[in-house]
Parts: sequence; C-alpha cells; structure tokens
Amino acid sequence: MKRTAVITGAAQGVGWVTAMRFARLGYRVVLTDVQPLEAPIGKLRAAGGDATGLSGDVSAESFAGELAEFTARECGGADVLVNNAGVSLIRPAEETSAADWQRVMAINLLGPFLLSKALGAQMLARRSGSIVNVASVAGLAGVSHRSAYNASKHGLIGLTRTLAAEWGGRGVRVNAVCPGWIKTEMDVADQGSGAYSDRDIVDRVPMARFARPEDVAAAIAYLADPEQSGFVNGVSLPVDGGWTADASWDSLRVRTRG
Ligand SMILES: NC(=O)c1ccc[n+]([C@@H]2O[C@H](COP(=O)([O-])OP(=O)(O)OC[C@H]3O[C@@H](n4cnc5c(N)ncnc54)[C@H](O)[C@@H]3O)[C@@H](O)[C@H]2O)c1
Repeated sequence: MKRTAVITGAAQGVGWVTAMRFARLGYRVVLTDVQPLEAPIGKLRAAGGDATGLSGDVSAESFAGELAEFTARECGGADVLVNNAGVSLIRPAEETSAADWQRVMAINLLGPFLLSKALGAQMLARRSGSIVNVASVAGLAGVSHRSAYNASKHGLIGLTRTLAAEWGGRGVRVNAVCPGWIKTEMDVADQGSGAYSDRDIVDRVPMARFARPEDVAAAIAYLADPEQSGFVNGVSLPVDGGWTADASWDSLRVRTRG
C-alpha cells in the first residue's frame, strides 16, 4: 500500500528536494508551507508523482489540527512526518530581542512539537510511523551570532530524543538530521547579509564543499523507511561532510587536501 509523507517547508530548498525524492520513491506526498503550493504540487504531478498539500504556518496550533484532519481525510493518515520548515536568524546575542527569540522558537521548535503531536497521534493509533526533524550542526555545537537559531536546533534534538523515548515502544520512531551549510535560498539570504562566504564554509568542511539538498533528502528518506532504518530511533545524524567530527584548525585541514 502507498505510504504517505507529510513534509513541511516544502515550497523550496531542502523541503522541495525531499518532496521530489519521496514522490519518486512512490510515497503519496503532502506538502505544506507558508507559501502557496500550487506550483510545486503541479510540478510533482506533471512528473507522475502523487502529491497534494495545504498552506499554513507550522507554529499555529490551529494549523497543526487542520493539517492532521486534511491528511486523515485525503490520505488516511500520515506514515512519515518531516519537520523541515525553519527560519534563520544571524544576530549578536546582545541585539536579539525577545520577539526575535520567540519567532525563531515558534517556527523551529514549537512547530515541530505541535505537528508531531497532531500527526504522531495518527501514527500512534496505528502503532507505526517515522518522524524526521531537520535540525542542524548548529544543534550540536555553538556558532556565534545565532543564539536563538542554535537554541532552537539544540531544543529540536532534545525533542527528538524525548519523543523517541516516549513513542518508540508504540511503533513510532523519531530521529533528526543535522546538516552542515547547504546551498539553498536560506544560504543565499544569509550570505547576502554578509554573514559569511563560500570559502569560510568550504575551508571548515573535511569534504571541502557545501551540503547539497539531495544529501539531506537522502538521509531523511533513509530514516523514514522502516526497511532501512527500522531499529534506528532517537539519533541526530550529522549530514555535514565531517564538520562536527573534525577539530583540526583550518590551515591543517586545508593542508591535508593535497
Ligand atoms: N540552508 C542551510 O545551510 C541549513 C543548514 C542546516 C539546517 N538547515 C535547516 O534546514 C531546513 C530547511 O532549510 P532550507 O535551507 O531549505 O531553507 P529555505 O529558507 O530555503 O526553506 C525553508 C522553507 O520553510 C518555509 N517556512 C518558513 N517559515 C514557515 C512557517 N512558519 N510555516 C511553514 N513553512 C515555513 C519557507 O517558506 C521555506 O519554503 C530548516 O529547518 C533549516 O534550519 C538549513
């Protein structure tokens, strides 16, 4: 039987590439985003994919309920939830306001909690399902000028571990991916503000490149599939070309490339 995957932040970037991969793998795909979804849904259908979707804000509790109802009505419930929608904030801690902090937490951490509750209920009722949260290397270590963003991603890893502990015995696995810097619209906007350059990132990564959205989508698909990762529960998988494994100083790392 066809499995259903709900993917948040699916209008562009990692979410869009993940939606394409799941559609190619034969899932029925439910896209969600604050942006309109007619174009991405149209593209997936034109390529032969089984796609539908609902626009809304993941941080609104009412939307979590609407999305769960929509998924139950259209698809008979979710087998997979990918909590990918997120926003970046690059700002020194002294200049980060309470409103900045709350906005980032609402989208990056409260949203995944609300959607996990709403769609996880369908999985728990069937005693089967997989939730994959898109965290970041910024959830595993500190990066300056990102206090709210990093705290939200650390929190998302904590949520992942806790739901894995709470729901694993009822057939629902919960894992996270922790990408390094990825070439998406988020990176274009962040670099546009002058926060860092391609060279800063490439020099820091043992594999000497940015992550591609496809690298992240492949790891998400692995964690979603019970045949491939059926006993993997509560992990936060770096998809970072070795970033978090490597404590070398930059000149040493660059010298080893030969
Ligand atoms: N780009 C990177 O370097 C990088 C690195 C590590 C982790 N990540 C994480 O990967 C995920 C995807 O990032 P991306 O690079 O594709 O970013 P992106 O900005 O290209 O895409 C994010 C998507 O989320 C949607 N979105 C934003 N707020 C929303 C809300 N309130 N409700 C519903 N949808 C909302 C946006 O409309 C957009 O389509 C994010 O969680 C991000 O934190 C990104």
